[in-house]
Amino acid sequence: MFVSARNFDEYRSMFGLTDHDLSLSLLDCPGGAASFAAEARARGTRVTSVDPEYGAGRGKLAELALLENEHKHAELVEPGADFVWTWFEGPEQYTRLRSESARRFGDDIAAHPRHYVEGALPHLPFPDRSFDLVLSSHLLFSYGRQLDEGFHREALLELVRLARWQVRLYPLFQHADFTRYPALERMRHFLADCGVTSRVEPVEYAFDPGDQEMLVLECAERGVLPRSADVAHQRDPVRWRHRDG
Ligand SMILES: C[S@@+](CC[C@H](N)C(=O)[O-])C[C@H]1O[C@@H](n2cnc3c(N)ncnc32)[C@H](O)[C@@H]1O
Repeated sequence: MFVSARNFDEYRSMFGLTDHDLSLSLLDCPGGAASFAAEARARGTRVTSVDPEYGAGRGKLAELALLENEHKHAELVEPGADFVWTWFEGPEQYTRLRSESARRFGDDIAAHPRHYVEGALPHLPFPDRSFDLVLSSHLLFSYGRQLDEGFHREALLELVRLARWQVRLYPLFQHADFTRYPALERMRHFLADCGVTSRVEPVEYAFDPGDQEMLVLECAERGVLPRSADVAHQRDPVRWRHRDG
C-alpha cells in the first residue's frame, strides 16, 4: 500500500460533501498524507484524521508521499495509460496538486499533531458515536485483493460504531484490476442486519476508469453492533510498496 495525498477539492468531489456536511464533525480514516483535513480545518470544519502511520514516523510521511507521487507520475505518462482526465486536466496538474497536498499535510501535522491520531482499523481509539460523519477513502474495497472479507466486515462495523450520522466510502473498485469489490453486496446485507441501511451514489470525481460511485451508510438508527470477536478477521497484511521494494 502507498500513502497518498488527496486535497480538499478531491475529497469534496469523492464524497459529495456539501457546506452542511462540512459544518459537522468529521473523521478521516485513513488520513494518509492528505491535506483535506488541514484545508477543511482552515475553513472552520472540525476534522480528526487517523492512520497507523501517525506514530513516531509521521515526520517522514509527507516526504514518502512526494516519493510516491514520482512513482505515480511515471505511471500516468506511460503510453496507453488508462486514466480518466475529466476531473484533473492531465498528469502535470495531477502531480502538482498531489505534491502541494503532501507539503500542506506535512506542515499541518508538524504544527497541529493533536489532530492526527495513530490508529488502525479494525480497532480505532475513539468512543462510540464520536463523529457526525466518517469518511474513508482508498483503503476498504480498494485493497480488496489484499484485505480479506473478515477484515472488511470488522472495519466497516468499526467505522459505523464511530458515526452518529453517516459513513461514506470511496471508491467501490479494487485498484488492482478496476473491478468492483466482489463482496460489496454481501457487506451491505451484513450491515443491513445490524440496522445500517446503505446506498450507492454517483459522485463527480473521476480518475480511475469506472470509479464514480461512493457507498453511504446510514448509522443514526443502527442497532447494537456485533462484538469484534464474533467477526472473523485477518490482520492487515498490507505494506507500503516503497518499503517492500
Ligand atoms: C492510499 S492511502 C489513502 C489516504 C487518504 N485517504 C487519501 O485519499 O489521500 C491509504 C492509507 O491507509 C492507511 N492504512 C493502512 N492500513 C490501515 C488500517 N488497518 N487502518 C487504517 N488505515 C490504514 C495507510 O497508512 C495509508 O496512509
